[in-house]
Amino acid sequence: MTPVPAPDLDTIVSLAKRRGFVFPSAEIYGGFANAYDYGPLGVEMKRNIRDAWWRFMVRERDDVVGVDAALITNPRVWVASGHVANFTDPLVDCRKCQQRFRADHLEEGAYGPVQRDANGNIVCPNDGGELTEPRQFNMMFKTQVGPVASDDNVAYLPPETAQGIFMNFENVLQSMRRKLPFGIAQTRVSFRNEITPGKFVFRTLEFEQMEMEYFCKPGTDLEWYRYWVEERLRWYTDVIGIDRARLRLREHEKEELSHYSAGTTDIEYLFPWGWGELEGVADRTDYDLKAHAAQSGKPITYFDEETNEHIVPFVVEPAAGLTRTLAVALLDAYDEETDDKGETRVVLRLRPNVAPVKVAVLPLSKNEALRPAARRVYDLLRPLWMTQYDETQSIGRRYRRQDEIGTPICVTVDFQTVGEKGEAGDDAVTIRERDSMQQLRVPIGALADALRERLPGC
Ligand code: GAP
Repeated sequence: MTPVPAPDLDTIVSLAKRRGFVFPSAEIYGGFANAYDYGPLGVEMKRNIRDAWWRFMVRERDDVVGVDAALITNPRVWVASGHVANFTDPLVDCRKCQQRFRADHLEEGAYGPVQRDANGNIVCPNDGGELTEPRQFNMMFKTQVGPVASDDNVAYLPPETAQGIFMNFENVLQSMRRKLPFGIAQTRVSFRNEITPGKFVFRTLEFEQMEMEYFCKPGTDLEWYRYWVEERLRWYTDVIGIDRARLRLREHEKEELSHYSAGTTDIEYLFPWGWGELEGVADRTDYDLKAHAAQSGKPITYFDEETNEHIVPFVVEPAAGLTRTLAVALLDAYDEETDDKGETRVVLRLRPNVAPVKVAVLPLSKNEALRPAARRVYDLLRPLWMTQYDETQSIGRRYRRQDEIGTPICVTVDFQTVGEKGEAGDDAVTIRERDSMQQLRVPIGALADALRERLPGC
């Protein structure tokens, strides 16, 4: 069966802004290409995805530990890693309007329909001008450390988190008394000078990555590479809840491989514009540890007690984009339903562990009599889960608002809860499930347990 691509990007971009997930950066100044801010719901969702990754990759395993390395560090790290020489993209300039484009993105139609001259050469998508030959352009941002700007104190903003892990391989090995195979994980911001605009948080100047370097004995790397491709795919489907039909594995052709890789498989998602990378799993061999040993003049090895030899471990790396996963989770969860009255219900069918708000407490109306009980329920739930309180507009509209941000459970406090006309209330509330819209009456005393059952992994 042909998978159905996710809804169009504009729908998600507009929902994300309207409901406080993601905002364009510095909008009052006209924004800034490829820069976005995360709003109150976006920041919760990012935290949820990061936590789900950390739990799956570190806490639930006994062979992976974490680090949090400095962002700005010795520039020789980036010389050894090959990024200073090789982390480049091919750029072309328009001879007429002087605008710059990524040659490979031009060919893919990222700047609009591909236009050609009479000889079949691609021309400028803005004004049809002739383009220069491609030149390699380094994607790392440079900065200066110290008060004087000079070539001697150049530093780089990290384009990946992996090198901070390699820098700490020996520290972790010794301090944690690790034996091969073991992994070191890190989640952190990375920076790349991306010049092709558009596509929301899919491609930004700064973005968060979730990376793990898995150190293993030479000769076992292929086995671990295959293992991590499957494990990572399982994370997207079973933990984040992405539709398997919209995911695929794509192995890189030889000429596509990064300078450090002996093999890479991308986990791709069917974006509205076609298949695109969500995560790369690479067999980095012993490239990085050897390169740092050569650059620093200090051997980086592991003593293999079985063979009584010092060896250089091989490395398998699953490298995921946190912010790209957030975009995919939003796209994949988006759904529209039409009810009997012909009204459309927009629902984000996010897994509870990913949803930014887990529970909404909604008094049936703004009536003063309902407020004390509703606030009591809100106070009870707030320390347990991310909870929202909302009493404005009709209950139907408030349910719709919560559906649109993916809140799995709404808790309604009504007159049956508090009693009316001298009658005592039942001190129970109605819980309403987002997807089935089914409602169930639960005593307030049993509410936390009832919600715990319905909010797995939260
Ligand atoms: N350490 C290996 C590495 O960085 P990568 O394939 O270049 O590999 C890994 O990046 C992941 O980081 C990508 O699959 C993607 O999810 C995310 N990523 C890369 N560049 C990005 C950008 N400009 N904006 C958002 N996410 C990005």
